[in-house]
Amino acid sequence: MPTPQHTVLALCPLLPPEMARLEAHFHVVRLYNENDPESALQAVKNDVVAIISNPNTPVRASLMEALPALEIVTQFAVGTDNIDLPMAKTRGIAVTNTPDVLTDDTADIAVALLLALSRRIVEADMFVRIGKWGQSPMPLGVTPKGKTVGIVGLGRIGQAVAKRLTAFDMRVVYHGRQQKADIAYGFYPDLVRMAADCDYLIATVSGGAATQNMINEDVLTALGPKGYLINIARGSVVDEAALIAALQKGAIAGAGLDVYAHEPNVPKELKSMDNVVLLPHIGSATIETRTIMGEIVLANLQAHFSGKPLITPV
Ligand code: 8YV
Repeated sequence: MPTPQHTVLALCPLLPPEMARLEAHFHVVRLYNENDPESALQAVKNDVVAIISNPNTPVRASLMEALPALEIVTQFAVGTDNIDLPMAKTRGIAVTNTPDVLTDDTADIAVALLLALSRRIVEADMFVRIGKWGQSPMPLGVTPKGKTVGIVGLGRIGQAVAKRLTAFDMRVVYHGRQQKADIAYGFYPDLVRMAADCDYLIATVSGGAATQNMINEDVLTALGPKGYLINIARGSVVDEAALIAALQKGAIAGAGLDVYAHEPNVPKELKSMDNVVLLPHIGSATIETRTIMGEIVLANLQAHFSGKPLITPV
């Protein structure tokens, strides 16, 4: 176990119980709470041995270079596109994440967005609240049953989404770098071709340079005026300007978003449209899952500083 001056730099909070357990074993600097984070970082930079991060807290090469004693970055998330992994490897800095435990909650959000869009749930709620019920008919939605959903990136979360939507009697197909041998869903090597055959497109693919803007104007045009886009992956996966343009000109029917290009900033154009459902990146945001995720972060820190194998190395 590190000595007291050894410091954990928390770029984001775990849940309070896990933060309390963390602070029982480490000196913790809660950078997200500091009024002057740069000064707070300078004061401890030589003592920081570990970082706790999440998708919205970049761990760039510059930060790693500023922390000569840094040994491990523990990501409070499964996606690690916010971390300069090549630099971490070069510096011999361990990186861990929290895979699997958040798969089901995140897949649930994809289904929630698909249903909210199809059955106009958010509009219907407002329809009642503002007293329009009884004044005029609520516009009809569309049924997901029998429709085709294309999953972009059939990893753990994508497969969990596919399992759920199969139960809704939807036809599931997928796009990815290669066909998966043990998967029965239809495979499309070409994303535009898949979009043209789909009523819904759901992005579950990992973020990063390889998937930057992979859902672009061509894909959205192929999805078509009766098609819906759902993004629970990363904002970087969708060309946000192209999405806004497609929504504004009716090139697609609607969008359900849990992630954005520049979180927490959401373009005003998206906020102004009734055929867009907006969530604040809540894929894993349940008490149960965030507790388990925090426990995994703590277990990785404990393992590392006890000289034992990491629980979930990236
Ligand atoms: C995070 C996410 O769990 O896990 C991921 O990659 O994007 C989220 O579901 C959330 O941002 C907390 O870090």
